[in-house]
Amino acid sequence: MAESKTIGVMTSGGDCAGLNAAIRAIAMRAIGTYGWRVIGLKNATVGLMARPVQYIEFSLEHLDSTILRQGGTMLGAISSGDPFAYPMPDGTKKDRTPEIIEGYQQLGLDALICIGGDGSQAIARTLAKRGNLKMVGIPKTIDNDVAHTETSIGYDTAVQVAVEALDRLQPTAASHNRIMILEVMGRDAGHIALSAGIAGGADVILIPEQPYRLSVIRDKIDQLKKQGRNFALIVVAEAVKTEDGEPVTQQYHGNQSRYGGIGQYLAKQLSDMTGAETRVTVLGHVQRGGQPSPHDRVLASAFGVHAVDLIAQGKFDRMVAWQNREVVDISLDEALAQNQEVDLQGALMRTARGLGISFGSM
Ligand code: F6P
Repeated sequence: MAESKTIGVMTSGGDCAGLNAAIRAIAMRAIGTYGWRVIGLKNATVGLMARPVQYIEFSLEHLDSTILRQGGTMLGAISSGDPFAYPMPDGTKKDRTPEIIEGYQQLGLDALICIGGDGSQAIARTLAKRGNLKMVGIPKTIDNDVAHTETSIGYDTAVQVAVEALDRLQPTAASHNRIMILEVMGRDAGHIALSAGIAGGADVILIPEQPYRLSVIRDKIDQLKKQGRNFALIVVAEAVKTEDGEPVTQQYHGNQSRYGGIGQYLAKQLSDMTGAETRVTVLGHVQRGGQPSPHDRVLASAFGVHAVDLIAQGKFDRMVAWQNREVVDISLDEALAQNQEVDLQGALMRTARGLGISFGSM
């Protein structure tokens, strides 16, 4: 009989669809196949800082297929509060590393699976190095900007939501002779905008990787008009800057800055330049909630099973990844060394250009 283990799982950073499917797969594999204990940390590292440590222990009764279908994360997640400079009630900042490591030890964890994007994985990696914790990473992010994996949990669902929005915007755009601008998420990467724009029939796609000129977009709209078209669909990624290179952001409580507002900026500029009625839809967190697509459920299940198998083989500091129709694993350091931006010469860009979609560039 193989050695019994206790493993932890946490969901860190912004949530997305498919997290519960990954948690379920981890617990099913670890309990069902290996007979291990599986501890779910509440609110990621915040649960490990808390005393008593906040967690739930999974048992096979938790594992019917109900959670497979559910959006969000049953463990809770945090997307603010750097644990190395954690905001304390008295206004000071504190490095909470020692408490997090102690929390891991109190639970008697043999390994921890972090389901997170590049930022959360980097934090978990640093904690693991400092405390000699055994870590395995699972990539999740609607932005799909984690390197060395073709796709991450949550991305497919986010694209599906954005395409559904375009399916709904197109008829109303045509009814009212309007330019419709859809602002989608994507912190510094344009993957959602590019895929959704192709699948949803956009005329213009703006992504942060590709600088644009407003005059080129105006020319594209003029050209459509000349061809007898009475509407235009524009998809813009939230991280696209103004023509002068200024990021468009919103401030939230606690000094948090998030992208938002580039759609309104474009609407004002383009309606002034073309005289066309222009409307803006900002999809925001709608892209993160809701039921995971079948693809995200499959990916999350494959990642969860593979992550547990890595622990069983004593392989740590690895991130699971999807490459060439296979689930594989790569070094976490290698995965975190770069971001996966849109490849301007890649297949999707070539496809979009081949369809006559404008990127606002010459
Ligand atoms: O990184 C994922 C993401 O959803 C981005 O696309 C978006 O800019 C950001 O998170 C929003 O973060 P928050 O949930 O903190 O508003």
